[in-house]
Order: sequence, then structure tokens, then C-alpha cells
Amino acid sequence: MPFDPLPKTLSEIIAGGASRPLTAVELGCGDGRLLALVRRPGVTCIGVDRMPRVAGSAADIVGDACRAPLREGSLDLLLAGNLVRHLVPARPDLGFLAGWLALLRPGGSLFILEDEPASRPGPAANHRDLQAFLARLWPTGRGPLLSRTAFLRRLPIRYQSLLADGGVGDNRWPQDADAAVAMLERGAPAPGDEAARLAAAIAAGGLACGRQWWCQLRVPGSSN
Ligand SMILES: C[S@@+](CC[C@H](N)C(=O)[O-])C[C@H]1O[C@@H](n2cnc3c(N)ncnc32)[C@H](O)[C@@H]1O
Repeated sequence: MPFDPLPKTLSEIIAGGASRPLTAVELGCGDGRLLALVRRPGVTCIGVDRMPRVAGSAADIVGDACRAPLREGSLDLLLAGNLVRHLVPARPDLGFLAGWLALLRPGGSLFILEDEPASRPGPAANHRDLQAFLARLWPTGRGPLLSRTAFLRRLPIRYQSLLADGGVGDNRWPQDADAAVAMLERGAPAPGDEAARLAAAIAAGGLACGRQWWCQLRVPGSSN
């Protein structure tokens, strides 16, 4: 899911494209909803995803976000929205960050955005439980929601001085509860199965992103 609102610092960088054109990439762009929020006159944003367009992605480049075929030092802005949690099971050391930061020009920024796992029952807890359920189906290919605290605990010390902004806030982007229920019921789960329990919880209580967190890692130097 994309993010609503976008962090203020990210919105300001994107708005700056009106006076100085920006080259951006979104890794793990999915169906392109975050791409659509970023693209505007003065901001070129290319989408990368492992899923091809025939599978519903908006990828301009189909490939692994950890080995994206992009030129080092070529980007003003790199985005990873709800992607890092998919990579953590295979790279718990966040080893992909070195390659991502190398793609940035001096003064360029990497924004990592994720949905924060809810701590109380309700629509956002259903989102948390749905993501945990999906992660268990493909344990090496995707992870459950990743909290900001858990991410920062994993962030290698050498990158901590690059942290320029970050926070946690509401994510008002709407979720499609009916589509989630239909997806869970497509497998015809037996009553009492986890999928059946989740479908019932979502049908009764709804589905929401809840809270989002972000952090901006900024490469030293001037972007002028
Ligand atoms: C939860 S979706 C997020 C979509 C979009 N970023 C957003 O915020 O709406 C995660 C996306 O990351 C992609 N993905 C996961 N692992 C990937 C990898 N190693 N390389 C490229 N894409 C990956 C998935 O195919 C999926 O489209």
C-alpha cells in the first residue's frame, strides 16, 4: 500500500523538482500507486519490481531490487515503500543498503517507508495479521510488517549518521477489505483455518493500514 500523507520531507523534495529536475527510482513499485504520487513535471521516477507487467506490476525495469541495473551516483531520490520487510528474511543485516546508497548522487536521499504493525485489535491489526499470514506462505520471499524500532535495531552503525529524518504517523491510504476477503476465500479454507478466521475478522472489522513509519538516509554533499 502506498502512503497518505507522504512524509513532509519527501513531499518537499518532490516539490523541488519544479525548480530543479529530479531523477528518482522506486524499488518494489508494485502496481505503481506510490509511483503515481511521486511522478510529476520535473520528477522522473522509474519503477523497479521483480513482478513483470503481465502480473500486474507497473515496473519499467523487471528485476531484483537488491541488484537493480542502475548507474551508481545517478539518482537524486530512491524510494523503497513496503519493500524492506520483503527483503529482511533473506538479508537480516540489511546488506542491500550499501548498493542502494551507492546509486545516489551527493546530497541524494533514500526514503524507506513501511506500515507499522498495530498493537491494538482493529482494522490495522487485521492488516498486520494478514501480512503475517502471507509471509508464512513464502518465508524467504516476504516478511511480516516490520516496526520502525526493529528496523533501526538492524540498521548498521555506519549508516546512523546518514539519518536525516524519520517518524511515525497515520497512514490513511484506504485498504480494500472485500478484495482481501475474496483472496483468502479463493483457497476455500475449512472453517477454523487461519485463512477462514482472518477472512471473518476482516469482513467483520475491516482493514486499514493504521500507522506508517519512514526514515530518510541522506548521502553527504550538495545536490546542486
Ligand atoms: C507491498 S508491495 C509495495 C508496492 C509499492 N511500493 C507501494 O508502496 O504501494 C511490495 C512489492 O515489492 C516487490 N518485491 C519484493 N521483493 C522484491 C525484490 N527482491 N526485488 C524487486 N521487487 C520486489 C513485490 O513484487 C511487490 O510488488
